Amino acid sequence: MNVSYYHSSIVAYDSCVSCYTISPPPTTTTARASLTLLHHRPLSLSFYQNPNFVTGNTIFFKMQRFCSVSGKTKNKAMVERLQHFGVIMSSKVAQVMETVDRALFVPSGSAAPYDDSPVAIGYNATISAPHMHATCLHLLQENLQPGMHALDIGSGTGYLTACFALMVGPQGRAVGVEHIPELVSLAIDNIQKSAAATLLKDGSLSVHAGDGREGWPEFAPYDAIHVGAAAPEIPQPLIDQLKPGGRMVIPVGNIFQDLKVVDKNLDGSISIRTETSVRYVPLTSREAQIRGY
Ligand SMILES: C[S@@+](CC[C@H](N)C(=O)[O-])C[C@H]1O[C@@H](n2cnc3c(N)ncnc32)[C@H](O)[C@@H]1O
Repeated sequence: MNVSYYHSSIVAYDSCVSCYTISPPPTTTTARASLTLLHHRPLSLSFYQNPNFVTGNTIFFKMQRFCSVSGKTKNKAMVERLQHFGVIMSSKVAQVMETVDRALFVPSGSAAPYDDSPVAIGYNATISAPHMHATCLHLLQENLQPGMHALDIGSGTGYLTACFALMVGPQGRAVGVEHIPELVSLAIDNIQKSAAATLLKDGSLSVHAGDGREGWPEFAPYDAIHVGAAAPEIPQPLIDQLKPGGRMVIPVGNIFQDLKVVDKNLDGSISIRTETSVRYVPLTSREAQIRGY
């Protein structure tokens, strides 16, 4: 196979991180990712989303409306901040990040779900910072057109899988693969409360338990592959499952990591460039992750 490497210009901020802040981008307030492992949703949102709470109580209905509006407003403000600092540069990315409320995917107990920082989700994993989600959506947007197939490896909370599903639509397919079964259940719960719930129900969005280093051959080839954890090297099965014309975004490295953009050309050759320096949790075995790497 023909492999060529080339470099791109560095993105607007010098170093973006998914799990730990090396050098925060301008949108980061404080790196106050909570290390407490809480799995409850924020009260306001779970009240609003949980059909079990739908009662005839009119005071409750007023509260629902208030809570929902405030969450949406804060999510929109987060998107606007990312636009202001040039992290979100397209209306497509802005639209999907506005549609998928980040608070539904961040464990409650996290002081600020809309802060630009990663948040611990248990099992030595995190939901990535909003600027990393935006960066990856930006890099993959041309490969997330309606009808296309997208694979999200290390899907964690399911946030990006939900974004992918909304972008590729009901005629497309968005597949999440996560090796911690409890996180698969968490992602499904989160997605069911989100704007992507219908796509999950209809089957164009699915989340599976498995070793992401093997990809998910059932729905291959993929137009877009996102890997949410850092691999020591690019797993061959993921390259094999990329469609000619397809693009993969994957952090590669151990202590020092680069976000790589891997394009499969129409003749099957591979071009790889480095987008920026990042810091993600490792793409590893379940056992290594549970014992803390
Ligand atoms: C930084 S988290 C990203 C989560 C997701 N992008 C999000 O923002 O919610 C990385 C995820 O990769 C998962 N992971 C690590 N190694 C894996 C593997 N071999 N197969 C599947 N998932 C893996 C972790 O469990 C974790 O949920």
